[in-house]
Amino acid sequence: MIKHIVLGLMAISLVACKNDVAEKVEQREEQKVVTSEIDSSVDEIKVKTIQIGGESAEQKNRFQASYPYTAYDFVNNNEERQVASYKDEFMSELEKVNEDAISGITFGQHFDIFTHTDDLLVVLNEQYRSLGNTFSDEFTARYYDLKKGEKISVVSLFKTKKDFEDFATMAKAEVVKELKRRVESDESLDEGDKAPYFENLLMEIDEGTDATEENYRSILFDKDMVIVKFNKYQVAPGTMGTIDIKLDKKKVAPLIKDEYKSILDIPEEEKKIGSVITPKGGNESVDCGKVPCVALTFDDGPSIYTDELLDILKEKGAKASFFILGKSAKVQRKTVERAMAEGHTIANHSWNHKDLSKLDKAGVTQQIHETNKTIKDIIGEDVRYFRPPYGAMNGSVKEIADMPIVLWTIDPLDWKDRDAEIVAERMIAAKANGIVLAHDIHKSTVQAVPKVIDALTSKGMKIVTLDELFKGKSLKGGTVYSKG
Ligand code: NI
Repeated sequence: MIKHIVLGLMAISLVACKNDVAEKVEQREEQKVVTSEIDSSVDEIKVKTIQIGGESAEQKNRFQASYPYTAYDFVNNNEERQVASYKDEFMSELEKVNEDAISGITFGQHFDIFTHTDDLLVVLNEQYRSLGNTFSDEFTARYYDLKKGEKISVVSLFKTKKDFEDFATMAKAEVVKELKRRVESDESLDEGDKAPYFENLLMEIDEGTDATEENYRSILFDKDMVIVKFNKYQVAPGTMGTIDIKLDKKKVAPLIKDEYKSILDIPEEEKKIGSVITPKGGNESVDCGKVPCVALTFDDGPSIYTDELLDILKEKGAKASFFILGKSAKVQRKTVERAMAEGHTIANHSWNHKDLSKLDKAGVTQQIHETNKTIKDIIGEDVRYFRPPYGAMNGSVKEIADMPIVLWTIDPLDWKDRDAEIVAERMIAAKANGIVLAHDIHKSTVQAVPKVIDALTSKGMKIVTLDELFKGKSLKGGTVYSKG
């Protein structure tokens, strides 16, 4: 038993070393991307992901962190350093894993872009760590001055120290209001206990709201509001979770330095072009009941490699299905538009790749519905398929998804072996009506695709989308399908 675990750990460490090599190669490749011309038809920011541990439920220990890849080297370098230290933290926790541990370690990171003007880029990062029965979820924003080419502290957005303190005072007043609202609506408290409980809470909030950089790690500038995120335990007991408060932008504006005033002008939302997308559709004449078909599915994107994959599929005349993450679709909208317009199937793989079997109903609903909303907004039609991260699901997940749940017949372990030849060999082993699981977050996987298409085609297989694979079958919401 002990031997097994030690070997397991060694295997993971080896994988990590291999990953390092793969990433270095990837980084070298990317230098070319930066220096090439900026094409306005592609997204300015793309999603990069580091994945350790596979998609299957047997994998107990998992790390999946995504971070932005921009046209600015100093931003990319900083984001990469940050994600590297997060990965180091995961690897060192992994070394401490107790052989008796039933639940594994899960680390996840995703990001959102809050401001992107000519002067400033604000990246909001969420990191969650699940270690046995302790779970943490933390938000941090990073502020990049694009003109000076440096990362700045949130405090330097304010004209003076006094202005920052005034901001903190305003924020604290809103925290008080928010806590009051929560206590009043808390049905688990007796009416008589509410006032003393609230008084107690107030005694604890100074430390978390005083004007320090640490307390104000996440000040976000939205359309009409300035949002401040206070992490779990920062201003209230952990059971209350993250506390978000909103401030009127007009009140905050006089406190912000002139050079950063652009942070207050959020441009009008990009025009929704979803409704004008007309998918070319797949190969209408294919009948998978009569000819052997294989569906290639790509999970966890869109990513920095997805456009390259779309180029390959276009060249080979093949259609695929993409199980995408809502949070990444939001960043790489144009890539999703393109995939749709080129006739691929776009499907739901949750918002940010959490293990849905461990979330409550509200959490699952948000993960699935927000993603459907975001995708529909981009592609202009309803999402038809769902695949839970790690294939992990329970009754609530199935019920809430209410879409056909599509798993796979072949897992080429492309997260583990970042070698296009090996990955291609495994994908080519797909049988008739099989569904191949792959990840377009790995360059090696994308590089495997031409060989896979050629080999499968030469065996007489048709490469199809899920729509084509399931054509003529009536699929039910909440039911699991693993093959065509
Ligand atoms: Ni996945």
